[in-house]
Amino acid sequence: MGIDPDFERDRSVVEEHDGHDVWGPVDEPERLGVHGTHVAVDFDACVGDGACLRDCPVDVFDWVETPGHPASEVKADPAREDACIDCMLCVDVCPVDAIDVDASRVRRFAADGGPESE
Ligand code: F3S
Ligand code: F3S
Ligand code: ZN
Repeated sequence: MGIDPDFERDRSVVEEHDGHDVWGPVDEPERLGVHGTHVAVDFDACVGDGACLRDCPVDVFDWVETPGHPASEVKADPAREDACIDCMLCVDVCPVDAIDVDASRVRRFAADGGPESE
């Protein structure tokens, strides 16, 4: 199953990873949640295909290792989601629909790591 495009309504932010939000539930190593907000990757859906890393024109993604996850032991992390130019290539090329991109979604954690005021 691919990413839930309504994850912003259905999930809540449980932690921050490398400057972006992580939407729970998280129960490592089997359940990793959704990483990113503008560029969101469902780590539980991602099978480590790599097309998104290869095709993104502005290099938004980095590999992160996720040992013990049932779908794959590497995931595409939206490490530079602020650089995204909304070309939607990653959304189109992911074979398991693990990525959703929406520039109107606003990150919950501030750049300094503290929570944004709502
Ligand atoms: Fe890259 Fe996907 Fe944005 S390919 S530019 S992260 S829409
Ligand atoms: Fe994962 Fe899809 Fe990228 S499977 S590595 S999010 S192309
Ligand atoms: Zn992450």
